[in-house]
Amino acid sequence: MNARVPMARLDRLLANLGYGSRREVADLVRHKQVVLDGEVLKDAGAKVPVVADLPERMTVAGKPVDPPAPLTLIMHKPLDVVCSHKEPGRSVYELLPRRWQARMPGLSTIGRLDKDTTGLLLITDDGAFLHRVIAPKSHVAKRYRATLDRPLEGWEAETFAGGKLMLDGETDPLAPAVLEPIGPREAFLTITEGRYHQVRRMFAAVGNHVTALHRDRIGGLALPDDLAPGAWRQLTPEELAAIFR
Ligand code: URA
Repeated sequence: MNARVPMARLDRLLANLGYGSRREVADLVRHKQVVLDGEVLKDAGAKVPVVADLPERMTVAGKPVDPPAPLTLIMHKPLDVVCSHKEPGRSVYELLPRRWQARMPGLSTIGRLDKDTTGLLLITDDGAFLHRVIAPKSHVAKRYRATLDRPLEGWEAETFAGGKLMLDGETDPLAPAVLEPIGPREAFLTITEGRYHQVRRMFAAVGNHVTALHRDRIGGLALPDDLAPGAWRQLTPEELAAIFR
Protein backbone atom coordinates (compact mmCIF):
# COMPACT_ATOMS: atom_id res chain seq x y z
CA MET A 1 0.00 0.00 0.00
CA ASN A 2 1.10 3.58 -0.69
CA ALA A 3 3.25 4.64 2.29
CA ARG A 4 1.72 8.12 2.35
CA VAL A 5 -1.81 6.92 3.06
CA PRO A 6 -2.52 7.65 6.76
CA MET A 7 -3.32 4.45 8.63
CA ALA A 8 -5.01 3.84 11.99
CA ARG A 9 -5.90 0.85 14.11
CA LEU A 10 -9.43 -0.21 13.25
CA ASP A 11 -10.62 -0.21 16.88
CA ARG A 12 -9.19 3.26 17.50
CA LEU A 13 -10.64 4.65 14.26
CA LEU A 14 -14.15 3.36 14.91
CA ALA A 15 -14.05 4.35 18.59
CA ASN A 16 -13.06 7.89 17.53
CA LEU A 17 -15.98 7.92 15.09
CA GLY A 18 -18.35 7.22 17.97
CA TYR A 19 -19.11 3.54 17.31
CA GLY A 20 -18.43 2.67 20.95
CA SER A 21 -15.48 1.85 23.17
CA ARG A 22 -12.58 -0.08 21.68
CA ARG A 23 -13.97 -3.15 23.40
CA GLU A 24 -17.38 -2.59 21.80
CA VAL A 25 -15.70 -2.13 18.44
CA ALA A 26 -13.81 -5.41 18.99
CA ASP A 27 -17.21 -7.06 19.52
CA LEU A 28 -18.45 -5.64 16.22
CA VAL A 29 -15.39 -7.10 14.51
CA ARG A 30 -15.88 -10.45 16.22
CA HIS A 31 -19.44 -10.50 14.91
CA LYS A 32 -18.15 -9.90 11.34
CA GLN A 33 -19.84 -6.50 11.17
CA VAL A 34 -16.90 -4.59 9.68
CA VAL A 35 -16.12 -5.02 5.98
CA LEU A 36 -13.32 -3.27 4.04
CA ASP A 37 -13.08 -3.53 0.26
CA GLY A 38 -15.46 -6.50 0.33
CA GLU A 39 -13.53 -8.45 2.96
CA VAL A 40 -14.75 -9.11 6.48
CA LEU A 41 -12.14 -7.73 8.91
CA LYS A 42 -11.14 -10.20 11.59
CA ASP A 43 -8.65 -8.23 13.67
CA ALA A 44 -9.73 -5.12 15.59
CA GLY A 45 -6.06 -4.14 15.84
CA ALA A 46 -5.51 -4.22 12.07
CA LYS A 47 -4.27 -1.04 10.42
CA VAL A 48 -6.80 0.47 8.02
CA PRO A 49 -6.47 3.47 5.70
CA VAL A 50 -7.94 6.75 6.96
CA VAL A 51 -9.01 8.24 3.66
CA ALA A 52 -11.84 10.54 2.57
CA ASP A 53 -13.47 7.80 0.47
CA LEU A 54 -13.51 5.29 3.34
CA PRO A 55 -17.36 5.37 3.46
CA GLU A 56 -17.31 3.95 -0.09
CA ARG A 57 -14.95 1.16 0.97
CA MET A 58 -15.96 0.21 4.50
CA THR A 59 -19.27 -0.82 6.01
CA VAL A 60 -20.19 -1.25 9.66
CA ALA A 61 -23.23 -3.43 10.30
CA GLY A 62 -24.02 -3.20 6.59
CA LYS A 63 -23.97 0.61 6.40
CA PRO A 64 -21.23 2.88 5.00
CA VAL A 65 -18.84 3.91 7.77
CA ASP A 66 -19.11 7.55 8.85
CA PRO A 67 -16.66 9.92 7.14
CA PRO A 68 -13.35 10.15 9.01
CA ALA A 69 -11.80 13.45 10.13
CA PRO A 70 -11.27 16.03 8.75
CA LEU A 71 -15.00 16.53 8.29
CA THR A 72 -16.70 19.82 7.41
CA LEU A 73 -20.46 20.16 7.05
CA ILE A 74 -22.71 22.84 5.61
CA MET A 75 -26.05 23.24 7.35
CA HIS A 76 -29.11 25.40 6.79
CA LYS A 77 -29.62 26.34 10.40
CA PRO A 78 -33.33 26.49 11.22
CA LEU A 79 -34.99 28.78 13.76
CA ASP A 80 -35.01 27.84 17.44
CA VAL A 81 -31.85 25.75 17.66
CA VAL A 82 -28.70 26.96 19.42
CA CYS A 83 -25.10 26.64 18.26
CA SER A 84 -23.57 25.75 21.60
CA HIS A 85 -23.58 22.57 23.66
CA LYS A 86 -23.78 24.75 26.78
CA GLU A 87 -26.81 26.91 25.98
CA PRO A 88 -30.18 25.54 27.01
CA GLY A 89 -32.40 24.27 24.20
CA ARG A 90 -32.06 22.00 21.19
CA SER A 91 -28.68 22.37 19.51
CA VAL A 92 -27.57 22.08 15.90
CA TYR A 93 -25.58 19.00 16.93
CA GLU A 94 -28.85 17.21 17.66
CA LEU A 95 -29.74 17.52 13.97
CA LEU A 96 -26.75 15.25 13.16
CA PRO A 97 -26.56 11.49 13.74
CA ARG A 98 -26.46 10.84 17.49
CA ARG A 99 -23.19 8.90 17.17
CA TRP A 100 -21.45 12.03 15.89
CA GLN A 101 -21.70 13.64 19.30
CA ALA A 102 -19.08 11.12 20.48
CA ARG A 103 -16.64 11.80 17.61
CA MET A 104 -13.03 12.62 18.44
CA PRO A 105 -11.95 15.19 17.44
CA GLY A 106 -15.33 16.75 18.17
CA LEU A 107 -17.39 18.88 15.82
CA SER A 108 -17.73 22.64 16.40
CA THR A 109 -19.62 25.36 14.60
CA ILE A 110 -17.47 27.90 12.79
CA GLY A 111 -18.76 30.98 14.58
CA ARG A 112 -22.30 31.03 15.88
CA LEU A 113 -25.73 32.08 14.79
CA ASP A 114 -28.29 33.20 17.36
CA LYS A 115 -31.19 30.93 18.22
CA ASP A 116 -33.48 33.14 16.13
CA THR A 117 -31.09 33.50 13.16
CA THR A 118 -31.37 31.12 10.20
CA GLY A 119 -29.06 30.27 7.32
CA LEU A 120 -25.60 29.15 6.36
CA LEU A 121 -23.69 27.45 9.16
CA LEU A 122 -20.41 25.54 8.86
CA ILE A 123 -19.54 22.76 11.30
CA THR A 124 -16.10 21.16 11.40
CA ASP A 125 -13.72 18.95 13.37
CA ASP A 126 -10.74 20.62 11.70
CA GLY A 127 -9.36 23.22 14.12
CA ALA A 128 -6.88 24.70 11.64
CA PHE A 129 -9.64 25.20 9.06
CA LEU A 130 -11.95 26.77 11.66
CA HIS A 131 -9.26 29.29 12.61
CA ARG A 132 -8.52 30.06 8.99
CA VAL A 133 -12.18 30.95 8.37
CA ILE A 134 -12.56 33.17 11.43
CA ALA A 135 -9.06 34.74 11.48
CA PRO A 136 -9.33 38.49 10.76
CA LYS A 137 -6.43 38.26 8.34
CA SER A 138 -8.40 35.84 6.13
CA HIS A 139 -10.96 38.64 5.47
CA VAL A 140 -13.79 36.14 5.03
CA ALA A 141 -16.96 38.25 4.76
CA LYS A 142 -20.36 37.07 5.98
CA ARG A 143 -23.55 38.33 4.38
CA TYR A 144 -26.84 38.59 6.26
CA ARG A 145 -30.33 39.43 5.07
CA ALA A 146 -31.99 41.50 7.77
CA THR A 147 -35.68 42.27 8.03
CA LEU A 148 -36.25 45.47 9.98
CA ASP A 149 -38.95 46.92 12.20
CA ARG A 150 -38.68 50.41 10.68
CA PRO A 151 -37.94 51.64 7.16
CA LEU A 152 -34.32 52.50 6.42
CA GLU A 153 -33.78 56.25 6.30
CA GLY A 154 -31.02 56.30 3.69
CA TRP A 155 -27.98 57.38 5.70
CA GLU A 156 -27.28 54.04 7.41
CA ALA A 157 -25.04 52.63 4.67
CA GLU A 158 -22.60 55.50 5.05
CA THR A 159 -22.50 55.07 8.83
CA PHE A 160 -21.82 51.33 8.51
CA ALA A 161 -19.17 51.92 5.84
CA GLY A 162 -17.36 54.58 7.86
CA GLY A 163 -15.44 52.30 10.21
CA LYS A 164 -16.27 54.52 13.19
CA LEU A 165 -19.45 52.95 14.53
CA MET A 166 -19.13 51.96 18.17
CA LEU A 167 -21.39 49.30 19.62
CA ASP A 168 -22.84 49.74 23.10
CA GLY A 169 -20.36 48.71 25.79
CA GLU A 170 -17.41 48.32 23.38
CA THR A 171 -14.21 50.33 23.06
CA ASP A 172 -13.12 49.50 19.49
CA PRO A 173 -15.06 50.82 16.51
CA LEU A 174 -16.45 48.32 14.03
CA ALA A 175 -14.63 47.60 10.79
CA PRO A 176 -16.39 49.03 7.73
CA ALA A 177 -19.46 47.02 6.66
CA VAL A 178 -21.51 47.10 3.47
CA LEU A 179 -25.26 47.74 3.61
CA GLU A 180 -27.32 47.04 0.47
CA PRO A 181 -31.01 47.88 0.89
CA ILE A 182 -33.34 45.52 -0.98
CA GLY A 183 -36.60 47.07 0.20
CA PRO A 184 -37.75 49.68 2.70
CA ARG A 185 -37.46 47.25 5.59
CA GLU A 186 -35.00 44.73 4.18
CA ALA A 187 -31.27 44.83 3.47
CA PHE A 188 -28.16 42.75 2.99
CA LEU A 189 -25.40 43.55 5.46
CA THR A 190 -21.89 42.20 4.85
CA ILE A 191 -19.49 42.17 7.78
CA THR A 192 -15.96 40.86 8.26
CA GLU A 193 -15.98 40.58 12.05
CA GLY A 194 -17.91 38.26 14.34
CA ARG A 195 -18.79 40.22 17.44
CA TYR A 196 -21.54 39.11 19.79
CA HIS A 197 -24.99 39.69 18.20
CA GLN A 198 -23.18 41.99 15.81
CA VAL A 199 -25.82 42.53 13.14
CA ARG A 200 -28.67 43.06 15.58
CA ARG A 201 -26.55 45.49 17.60
CA MET A 202 -25.46 47.39 14.48
CA PHE A 203 -29.07 48.05 13.52
CA ALA A 204 -29.88 48.95 17.14
CA ALA A 205 -27.00 51.47 16.98
CA VAL A 206 -28.77 53.25 14.10
CA GLY A 207 -32.15 53.25 15.86
CA ASN A 208 -33.68 50.22 14.16
CA HIS A 209 -34.57 46.69 15.21
CA VAL A 210 -33.98 43.39 13.42
CA THR A 211 -37.10 41.23 13.28
CA ALA A 212 -35.61 38.39 11.18
CA LEU A 213 -32.03 37.53 10.32
CA HIS A 214 -30.69 35.05 7.78
CA ARG A 215 -27.08 34.42 6.74
CA ASP A 216 -26.82 33.55 3.05
CA ARG A 217 -23.06 33.76 2.36
CA ILE A 218 -19.70 33.07 3.92
CA GLY A 219 -16.95 34.40 1.65
CA GLY A 220 -17.73 33.17 -1.87
CA LEU A 221 -19.88 30.30 -0.59
CA ALA A 222 -23.66 30.79 -0.88
CA LEU A 223 -26.26 28.74 0.97
CA PRO A 224 -27.46 26.27 -1.70
CA ASP A 225 -31.13 26.69 -2.68
CA ASP A 226 -31.73 22.95 -2.32
CA LEU A 227 -30.63 22.84 1.33
CA ALA A 228 -33.87 23.16 3.32
CA PRO A 229 -33.94 24.51 6.89
CA GLY A 230 -32.51 21.80 9.15
CA ALA A 231 -30.78 19.98 6.27
CA TRP A 232 -27.02 19.49 6.13
CA ARG A 233 -24.40 17.63 4.12
CA GLN A 234 -20.66 17.35 3.71
CA LEU A 235 -19.02 20.38 2.13
CA THR A 236 -17.45 19.59 -1.25
CA PRO A 237 -13.78 20.54 -1.88
CA GLU A 238 -15.01 23.15 -4.40
CA GLU A 239 -17.33 24.72 -1.81
CA LEU A 240 -14.53 24.71 0.73
CA ALA A 241 -12.26 26.61 -1.69
CA ALA A 242 -15.09 29.07 -2.49
CA ILE A 243 -15.11 30.30 1.11
CA PHE A 244 -11.74 32.00 0.56
CA ARG A 245 -12.59 33.51 -2.84
N1 URA B 1 -25.27 38.90 14.12
C1 URA B 1 -26.30 38.72 14.96
O1 URA B 1 -26.78 39.66 15.57
N2 URA B 1 -26.80 37.47 15.11
C2 URA B 1 -26.33 36.41 14.43
O2 URA B 1 -26.85 35.30 14.60
C3 URA B 1 -25.26 36.60 13.56
C4 URA B 1 -24.74 37.86 13.42
